[in-house]
Amino acid sequence: MRTQVAIVGAGPAGLLLAQLLHNEGIDSIVVENRSREYVEGRIRAGVLEQGAVDILNAAGVGDRMRREGLVHDGFEMRFHGQSHRIDLARLTGGKCITVYGQHEVVKDLIAARVTTGRPLLFDVADVRVTGIDTKHPQVAFTHERKSHVIDCDFVAGCDGFHGVCRAVMPAHILRIYEKVYPFAWLGILVDAPPVQNELVYAYHDRGFALFSMRSPTITRLYVQCAPEDELSEWPDARIWHELHTRLETKDGWKLNEGPMLQRGITPMRSFVAEPMRHGRLFLAGDAAHIVPPTGAKGMNLAVGDVAVLARGLAEHYGDGRDSLLDRYSEICLRRVWKGERFSWHMTSMLHRFPGNDEFQWRMQLAELDYYTGSVAGRTTIAENYVGLPIEL
Ligand code: FAD
Ligand code: PHB
Repeated sequence: MRTQVAIVGAGPAGLLLAQLLHNEGIDSIVVENRSREYVEGRIRAGVLEQGAVDILNAAGVGDRMRREGLVHDGFEMRFHGQSHRIDLARLTGGKCITVYGQHEVVKDLIAARVTTGRPLLFDVADVRVTGIDTKHPQVAFTHERKSHVIDCDFVAGCDGFHGVCRAVMPAHILRIYEKVYPFAWLGILVDAPPVQNELVYAYHDRGFALFSMRSPTITRLYVQCAPEDELSEWPDARIWHELHTRLETKDGWKLNEGPMLQRGITPMRSFVAEPMRHGRLFLAGDAAHIVPPTGAKGMNLAVGDVAVLARGLAEHYGDGRDSLLDRYSEICLRRVWKGERFSWHMTSMLHRFPGNDEFQWRMQLAELDYYTGSVAGRTTIAENYVGLPIEL
């Protein structure tokens, strides 16, 4: 097999890159080790920044998102049983976020890819990347019990945090920055209409909770738990009890209960691998960086990376200039670190840290009070939440 760009991983990063390259007339092959059904059903992120929405629309994959996505011009931060609204639109000159499930974005991107007729292979195994220091890298894999090798010009490592591409970077040039948090999120998808149409991030002395949604009939909820907790330790009654206690207010705001359609526990981690490029291998999305989900930044950072990479590759194949590709890592990391900072800050401010003393608890409350009570504080949160621009 021969292509211009071999893409490892069919998550939002790999699939969007394939679409952006197709729009530039650049050929690619996407290889994914899971099945199409698995990838399309994987419930993860829900919040798209304005910039990510614009990129998806410009890429020609925004039709359903424009019809079904829920545009939000604000969200709430809740503590001491009281709500404080962050008016995104007013504080940022009209910017909003769109609530549209990551798996819906993935479905739209897969449908678009299939329409192009370019290769997208699911259920591959034993992916190996070689020759990234040469002009002729290769991606080898097995598919339907046959061995294959892709000869290509570039490899895009879009294979997520547990993928194989990051490990191909020489150990002596790779720097890892990491923080693991002493808690996790238990997330549930509920067949019940969301009680209101804006997200609520709640800080309670029993721990964090988040009210979100996927559609006018599906609610998405998260509750802080211990990282070692098993789902079996969280029967429905315990989950609902914690959600009611942590989210509900003194003025009678109540959650709608319903059957749980899905549940899972997500560990919380901040992680950055530098640089994001070596030779002809480019890492994008979770393969290079992870954020705790409190800032809703993960998928948005992935979209930003591949937008930069696609522009760099378009320049390379268009007029032979490599100035953007050469600065790929630097351009992405500048934005990534700001996303990391915001996610770390939201996480630090809103969670109960085991072992924290009364002083730190008071500091968190004072910080929440400041960030929600002052226009400067709210503006800082709003500016980061709707997304910082990509600075080329
Ligand atoms: P992935 O989505 O991980 O895709 C990588 C793909 O590569 C996968 O399909 C995987 O199967 C495949 N793969 C792995 N190894 C191989 C291999 N060896 N060969 C071939 N293929 C391979 N982000 C937000 O922006 N907003 C949110 O609101 C938000 N909420 C979140 C809530 C939760 C509970 C979680 C878990 C995450 C959340 N995120 C959020 C983060 C977001 O989901 C990720 O940042 C996003 O999935 C990154 O996309 P990606 O394409 O880089 O990686
Ligand atoms: C979600 O709806 O899944 C969601 C929303 C906001 C976050 C994280 C997850 O910060």
